[in-house]
Amino acid sequence: MIPYNKFAGVYDKMEADRHSINMVKYTLRIMRRFGIEAQDGLDLCCGTGSAIEAFCDQGLTMSGLDRSRQMLKVAAEKLRSSKVQLYRKELPRFEILLRTRTARKQLKRFDLVTCFYDSLNYLLTERELKAAFRSVYRHLRPGGWFVFDMNTPHGLRVIWPSQVFAGAEDDLAWVFRAEYDNMQESVVLQATFFVKSGRLWERFDETHTERGYSDRTIRSLLRDVGFQVKGYYRCFTFDRPKATNGRICAVVQRPL
Ligand SMILES: C[S@@+](CC[C@H](N)C(=O)[O-])C[C@H]1O[C@@H](n2cnc3c(N)ncnc32)[C@H](O)[C@@H]1O
Repeated sequence: MIPYNKFAGVYDKMEADRHSINMVKYTLRIMRRFGIEAQDGLDLCCGTGSAIEAFCDQGLTMSGLDRSRQMLKVAAEKLRSSKVQLYRKELPRFEILLRTRTARKQLKRFDLVTCFYDSLNYLLTERELKAAFRSVYRHLRPGGWFVFDMNTPHGLRVIWPSQVFAGAEDDLAWVFRAEYDNMQESVVLQATFFVKSGRLWERFDETHTERGYSDRTIRSLLRDVGFQVKGYYRCFTFDRPKATNGRICAVVQRPL
């Protein structure tokens, strides 16, 4: 089944959006550290919109983008009282256009672009990851910032397959199992959900495929498209990542 289809309906209930809320707090610390004064932002792969909501609470004007109709539906409901623009678009190559009177197309640009959780790991080739970085670059004003986190190759190859992620509520249970595919250099996550509906339990399954990229590859692709890498950390810290860390966070700037 297509990822983030029925999953959308239980995503927040499973508190899967906690990570992005914590990423917003961390991004605010990053912004203070680098003196970033953003007025507006775009959250890529925004999912159910919890990060957007948290950024709006801080006074930013936000937009969001995701390819999942179902995730965007949950986000639209959550954000209906704010002036957030949501776009159904797919990475790696995306364009958000300004509505102008002239025929000339003009890209909408932002002070800050974010992309949280495993979202960029869904891009399965370096070529795609580079194309996504290029699209972000084009949507930033000169001097604008891009903050994102990603699972590391070690996280996906070693940490994920060694664990079963599971949880149970009164009306919801889930089991996630991961297997690493050495040939494809990617992890395949089988996600099984049970949702209570009346007296019956409905089961649904999703397959998620993710790939990790080395620090060297990520940095080099970012530089190739013109970004300056200003910070590269073990996620949620300001420490250099170690080989055994499961997640990194990058802070990069489009030069002025
Ligand atoms: C792990 S969820 C993260 C959602 C949100 N950022 C959060 O942290 O809660 C990954 C999201 O990325 C979206 N996504 C995955 N691949 C995508 C692509 N190629 N283009 C646009 N959205 C994508 C999915 O639909 C899903 O909403």
